[in-house]
Amino acid sequence: MSLIKDGKYSPVDSGVIGELTEIMGSENVSFDPDKIRVYSRDEVGGQFWESDYLAEVVVFPRNTEQVSALMRLASRKVIAVTPRGAGTGLSGGAVPAFGGIVVSFEKMNRILECDPVNLTATVEPGVITAEICRAAMPYGLQYAGDPCSGDASFIGGNVAENAGGNKVIKYGATGANVLGLEVVLPSGEVTWFGGKRRKDVTGLDLVHLVAGSEGILCLITKVIVKLVPLPSCIVDLLVPFSTMEEAISFVPKILTESRIVPASIECMNKNSLKIVSRYIGSSLPFEEAGAHLIIQLEGNDPDSLADDYERLGQACLSSGALEVFVADNRNSRDRLWKARKSVAEAVMAFYTRYAKEDVVVPTSEVPELMREVDRICEHYGLEGVNYGHVGDGNIHVNLLMEEDRPDWKSVIESARMELYSVTARLGGTLSGEHGIGLKRKKYMTIFLDEAQIGLIRRIKKAFDPLGILNPGKIVD
Ligand code: LAC
Ligand code: ZN
Repeated sequence: MSLIKDGKYSPVDSGVIGELTEIMGSENVSFDPDKIRVYSRDEVGGQFWESDYLAEVVVFPRNTEQVSALMRLASRKVIAVTPRGAGTGLSGGAVPAFGGIVVSFEKMNRILECDPVNLTATVEPGVITAEICRAAMPYGLQYAGDPCSGDASFIGGNVAENAGGNKVIKYGATGANVLGLEVVLPSGEVTWFGGKRRKDVTGLDLVHLVAGSEGILCLITKVIVKLVPLPSCIVDLLVPFSTMEEAISFVPKILTESRIVPASIECMNKNSLKIVSRYIGSSLPFEEAGAHLIIQLEGNDPDSLADDYERLGQACLSSGALEVFVADNRNSRDRLWKARKSVAEAVMAFYTRYAKEDVVVPTSEVPELMREVDRICEHYGLEGVNYGHVGDGNIHVNLLMEEDRPDWKSVIESARMELYSVTARLGGTLSGEHGIGLKRKKYMTIFLDEAQIGLIRRIKKAFDPLGILNPGKIVD
């Protein structure tokens, strides 16, 4: 097998296979080529990589002890190990860049406890994120870290990516909702970072170093998340504006003029609406509007919530909104969010030539970013499907090429580089929530200086001196 790069990692030979089978049972060790192919990719798609990265074996541990034994074996033999959640990642974080072992956490999928006194849930990494909400609901609680992929992605992957999503403006990203992590270090040692504690300055804050570390430091085997009260009333406002400029200029006023912190402030430009209605076969009102905002408000008292959304609706209309639609029942809210959450899939369903970006800028710079994105699209003859978490300044800029040009890769790359240089000039950065992984590694030096990249390398080395855990990600 020629998967072993630079002679650094040992192959998964028959001796290793024998040991893996002993550790977790033959039913949890797979060489099936179809499985290997599926478990060697995420949602970035293999066509974007220069090589065909493939695992040599996929394993499915059932508990922490098995993960620990696996890492002791990988350390002893110096074998590359790539952790994997549900494979919904958008940066190639779970792609085995150096072959070796892919560790799927799908069989570590138990909700171990909901604790309504400490307001926590303790879960295994392979739990689907939305399941935590379902488990907390009988206690009148919810888990508020809600990435758009929450119905499919695993909490372990969410922590590894520090996934964001729709509710960051009110509740913070995944890391802000995590109190404790049981982890297996590359050496196989098992330890806890944090716990069910609301405060902790004993040692370093390793929980929040691991949140967003993309599986390069340690393997997550248990997660303690915060639970918060589940609001009894939720209302979504769908607000079309003639132009994107008008829509995004209104965003800061939501907080200042209305004195409300919504759970979500999302936007979709006209192209996003069009592509999504083609994809899901139904459309939202005012499809021809330049942009739509979705503003979600929560509360417990229907009258005071109605007061809030009426005041906010008036403010929208005074700022040029074409209409304000109120979705206050399950059906209308589901319809709206289905459209919003399907944009990423719609792009991948209809296009093969694109830059799918995740830039984030200070919120004050979103209008200038969007002007520049329009200019870049026009200059390179690209379509811009731009949408996302406008309340956080995190816009998913998708630069799409319609025609089949032989030079599409270089055109898109030039447009991407221009987007990055604008983002950096505006004080923004490369990724707000999708991560660096394999996909964005080569652009890190545009945003981080040598001092910081060197520090990341040294932190990686402190955790993983042999470089066996998720090699090839974030930095070389
Ligand atoms: C979204 C995902 C792609 O916001 O992050 O739809
Ligand atoms: Zn997003």
